Parts: sequence; structure tokens; C-alpha cells
Amino acid sequence: MLIAGNWKMFKGAHQAREFAAQITRLDDRSSGVDVVVCPPFVSLQATIQGLGEGSNVSVYAQNVHWELEGAFTGEVSAPMLLELGVKGAIVGHSERRQRFGETDDTVGQRAEAALEAGLAVIACVGETEADREAEETEAVLELQIGAIPEHERLVIAYEPVWAIGTGRTASSEIAQEAHAFIKSLHPTRVLYGGSVNAENARTLLSQPDVDGALVGGASLDAQSFEAICLAAAEIAGE
Ligand code: PGA
Repeated sequence: MLIAGNWKMFKGAHQAREFAAQITRLDDRSSGVDVVVCPPFVSLQATIQGLGEGSNVSVYAQNVHWELEGAFTGEVSAPMLLELGVKGAIVGHSERRQRFGETDDTVGQRAEAALEAGLAVIACVGETEADREAEETEAVLELQIGAIPEHERLVIAYEPVWAIGTGRTASSEIAQEAHAFIKSLHPTRVLYGGSVNAENARTLLSQPDVDGALVGGASLDAQSFEAICLAAAEIAGE
């Protein structure tokens, strides 16, 4: 089971350090769960310092470029992340796909380079509401997944775009069906993302093919993030 908190463009260094110090308490109660937080680039170091030596909470970035260095204004490379002690990166989040021109091709390149450099990767896929209404969900997922490499350090996050930040979680049946489909294409762990919170986490995480969650809004509050991690630990222990 893997629970990752995607902070998006929230928490500067000061808040990140405070949050990290609060969740170090999780360490001994989250057995069976890989806990990850994904701060903005500028808060990565403060988060790592706040967690302290020996924490079993890992820090991932929210994106990573495919080149090692070069004239790519605004981008950050895998070696730069590794130097800070970052363990992985999200790639292909739907906000990047929809608002910043990310394509299946660039998502694939980012994932390949990150894996090659030694990072773990959470690669995001998911259909829009229009795709689902047009019964195009499987076709869209197939294209997105076709661009994602297979690797032991890669997990996929299924995040239906219509469920992100909307409070409209996919039903556990919809999530289970999509996860089973994704696993038929790509043998890997699959996280669910889209309005996961402390109340609905248990039901979603109990589905046989749901291997964890990528949590946005509810990961910003240490108490609700902890509650989701503890629900995952309970299910992992069952
Ligand atoms: P949400 O975001 O939990 O706020 O819906 C999830 C995500 O975008 O990763």
C-alpha cells in the first residue's frame, strides 16, 4: 500500500517544515504503508530536513525533466532532485496535461529519465468527464498507459479528471474496474486519486486492485493525511 500526498502549489518552506515535523509521528504506526509527500520544488529541502534522519516518509517532487541539464527554463532534473535526497517524482498529473501542455510523449520521456537516474515514479493517467460520457475511458487509458515504461520503481495513479478537486470521488466500483483494466495493460501497483479523504479512504482502499492513493486537498492537513495513512495501514494488515 502506498499513500502519497500531492501538495500541488501549497506550502512554502516554512509550512512544509512544520508539516513534516508533525507527521514524523506516523512512522511507527504506518507499517505496511509507503508514505510519500510531494511538496513544491522550493519546499523539498525543508520537508526532508523537517522529517529528519531515518524517517520512513519519502519525499517526491511533483515533476521532473528528461534531460540531465540544459537550457530548459523553469525545469528541474533528476540528478538535482537526487542531490537533495528526493526519492521520486510524479509525472503526467492531469493539471500538467490540461494546463501546461504535457502530452503522453513528454510524460513517457520524464518517466524514463527519472527511472534511469534512480528515482521512483508515480505516473498519472485518467479520463475526462467527456471521455467517460463518450465511452472512451478505456481507449484514453490505453493510449496514456502505452507511453509509460514498465519498471519496478514505477507505480501508476488512476485519477479520473472529473474527480480531482471536485469532491466527486469515483465510486469504488468505477475505481476497481479502471484499476483492473490498467493492470491488464501494465503489471504494476495502481493508486487511486481524486477527492480521497479520511471518510472515503477505507472504502476505496479496500478494493482488491486499489494499491494506495494519491491525495491532493486532504493531504494538506496533517490530521486528515494521518487518518488516511492509518486507514491504509489497517487494510494492509488485514
Ligand atoms: P484531490 O487531488 O485529492 O484534491 O482531488 C488529487 C490529485 O490531483 O492528485
